Amino acid sequence: MTQPILITGGTGFIGSHTALVLAQAGVPIVILDNLCNSSPKVLDRLARLGVTPLEFVQADIRDAQALDDLFARHAFEGVVHFAGLKAVGESVAQPLRYLDNNVSGTLSLLQAMERAQVRRVVFSSSATVYGDPAVVPIAESAPLTATNPYGRSKLMCEDALRELHSADPRWRIAILRYFNPVGAHESGLLGEAPNGIPNNLMPYITQVALGQRDALQIFGNDYATPDGTGVRDYLHVMDLAQGHLAALKALGASDTPQLLTVNLGTGQGVSVQQMVDTFAHVNGVPIAHRVVARRPGDVAQCLADPSLAKALLNWQTELGLERMCADAWRWQSMNPQGFDTPL
Ligand code: NAD
Ligand code: WQD
Repeated sequence: MTQPILITGGTGFIGSHTALVLAQAGVPIVILDNLCNSSPKVLDRLARLGVTPLEFVQADIRDAQALDDLFARHAFEGVVHFAGLKAVGESVAQPLRYLDNNVSGTLSLLQAMERAQVRRVVFSSSATVYGDPAVVPIAESAPLTATNPYGRSKLMCEDALRELHSADPRWRIAILRYFNPVGAHESGLLGEAPNGIPNNLMPYITQVALGQRDALQIFGNDYATPDGTGVRDYLHVMDLAQGHLAALKALGASDTPQLLTVNLGTGQGVSVQQMVDTFAHVNGVPIAHRVVARRPGDVAQCLADPSLAKALLNWQTELGLERMCADAWRWQSMNPQGFDTPL
């Protein structure tokens, strides 16, 4: 790839790691983000990792003029589209904000791409589109459903992308359904820095490890799983980032279908209790925890069948659970104040 790739949401957790992977693969990149859930200091960290010079545009994907200006300045080869809001609980309280940001935002981006005749896009979807799966591991052909406005927004964007491809097959579209991304870059310079109380398991564990929170609440131990706690498919964010490079390459290849929908996961189930025990063992830091009631909306198990990603993208995960725990802890312990930590 000689023309640049636009990364929307590129200062966020997954976007920043993907920016690094693309840049290190020699792909020129431009990042656009409105910084509603990320820090501009991510750009300094990327520079320290050798991603320099790097063009950053602070703008909202719903700002058509900003997008037109940007597309006029660069002949983008494609877009990796991460920009979106992702907190499930918040989406239940603020459905219109989520649908506007995620759905209107994606439509605005696709329209700008159409105007600029840039028709290659990799979209961040989520295992949330499978709802409460009847069968695990989950294949891409499983029924799709939304159980909250966040999930609805992902499903609506997926539908829009499918409609677009059937209307105009010149579009090359990869819909990537991520399972549970965790971990951080091994340097400790990039990682996940949620605002406020973390919703997700791994950042909560790392904050307990640091002493910023008293104890992890394990949401239920009466699920139909081997130890009763919820089972998920956690994958290392660096493997996930590699999946985006693989998808971009596949979208350029003549022997690959140009509407790709693939799961990105390991296919391995890990329970909450196993995660707590592995983190404590690998890092030598005990994680205080207590079992509380189930969290509304949680499912017992969510696991990917990752075989299609292997077949279509030649992608599979390389980094295991211990590495996820070690890298997450290195990031958190080096950055107790997230990206505001002077390094
Ligand atoms: P994140 O919040 O760290 O990154 C998203 C970025 O998008 C942020 O930097 C935010 O400032 C930016 N953004 C949001 N709305 C924007 C807008 N209207 N215009 C411009 N920028 C905007 O989240 P993440 O974990 O990196 O997730 C990236 C994508 O992957 C999201 O679309 C998310 O829904 C999806 N996803 C995440 C997970 C996960 O567990 N982290 C799982 C599945 C799917
Ligand atoms: C994992 C497990 C919890 C926190 C969410 C979104 C999903 C996707 C990924 C974006 C579950 C348990 C958690 C805690 C706990 N995001 N847990 N105590 O719910 O699988 O998926 O993030 O697309 O759409 O729903 O991830 O990290 O919140 O939870 O016991 O304090 O950890 O019950 O079993 P989840 P999670």
